[in-house]
Amino acid sequence: MDFELYFGGLKLNFEKIWSKKTKFMRESEIRALLKWISQGNIISFGGGMPDPKNIPKKELAEITYNLLLNRGEKILQYSGTKGTLELREELLKFMGKHGIKFESPENIIITTGSQQGLDLLGRIFIDPGDTVIVEIPTYLAAINAFQVYECKFIGVPVDDEGMRTDILEEKVKEAEGRGERIKFIYTIPTCQNPSGVSMSIDRRRHLLEIASKYDLLVVEDDPYSYFLYEPVEFKYLKSMDREGRVLFMSTFSKILAPGLRVGWLAGDREAIEKFCLAKQSMDLCTSQLNQLIASEALRTGLIERQLPKIREIYREKRNTMLKSLETYMPEGCRWARPIGGMFIFVWAPENVDTKKMLKRCLEKYRVAYVPGRSFHVDGSGGNAMRLNFTYPSKEEIVEGVKRLSKAIREEIESS
Ligand SMILES: Cc1ncc(COP(=O)(O)O)c(C=O)c1O
Repeated sequence: MDFELYFGGLKLNFEKIWSKKTKFMRESEIRALLKWISQGNIISFGGGMPDPKNIPKKELAEITYNLLLNRGEKILQYSGTKGTLELREELLKFMGKHGIKFESPENIIITTGSQQGLDLLGRIFIDPGDTVIVEIPTYLAAINAFQVYECKFIGVPVDDEGMRTDILEEKVKEAEGRGERIKFIYTIPTCQNPSGVSMSIDRRRHLLEIASKYDLLVVEDDPYSYFLYEPVEFKYLKSMDREGRVLFMSTFSKILAPGLRVGWLAGDREAIEKFCLAKQSMDLCTSQLNQLIASEALRTGLIERQLPKIREIYREKRNTMLKSLETYMPEGCRWARPIGGMFIFVWAPENVDTKKMLKRCLEKYRVAYVPGRSFHVDGSGGNAMRLNFTYPSKEEIVEGVKRLSKAIREEIESS
């Protein structure tokens, strides 16, 4: 026996049998926060959750009732791994309306949330030691998903116009010079999480030129483009892609409800087939009921009717948070004005460790945020924090920023 199993009150020694992969697994700071938030009595600027009032409960109840009543026997069976044709056809129309054209539903695979799409990317592209290029900062659960596959990261900073593509090219050249295998460039070009910026059209063009010159795959993750609060011109990278080198991924989590766990990946058919193969052993298929709820929400126009209303509510909440930050934050703090999305990224003075401060914020001030370092693959961001403004009410936003400001002031004074 190469592991010890004890009976009579003693415990199996799991340390001996964990896979090597578990060493690369990190608990998402957001998941950890949700445990606190679920205890109640906390103002949450933590997860990227939609305003609960925006979830169209009645309409969804009606859709679900009709689906189960009329087609329940079929819907509650297993279904194809790639996803139901109905939903993929609706998505073809939905993306088409927003400027992204695909030939056929075969260009789309439905995923159990976009998070599964991120894991699938790791499964089919990353071998240990491979390189993945990400933005600094970037979505922390993408970092967590990719690093399980033991990749190295190259980080490219983001400024007001999105990813610094001049630096990207330098980094690609250097990596190639070192003989590294770059597997893909992961970007959230529109209403970036966590910075809230959007990549300019020139930078998007430049990014695609670099991808073409060095023959690289680009992953465009797009949960937030429906929430742009300023009249900026933008085009999806996928809509500018003439060489089939952009994989587009999105989700119903922000435009409908995250609890449905329905997302999608769209791109080259060869890649979609490989994703399909990889997904088979993960969950066989995404819940058919949830897929059809999403499909009906598209077919009946529910989502398109909801979007302008949600956008207006979030714009006001963003403005409330910006105003509260201006009013209450101590000197030395700065933040970017997001033109869209769900977050404001705030930097406290250098000597404030936002990870350390979080415990006090939760216990004493009852306010939650996500510390900044986990969004940075270069280890920076220790004095930063991501604040979500879509979930809390406007009153909670004002009160929460006041509490946070107090905590930061205390931290500055004590150091
Ligand atoms: C950039 C980005 N990608 C992917 C996801 C995961 O979304 P889903 O709920 O579809 O798994 C999120 C969620 O916040 C996100 O912000």
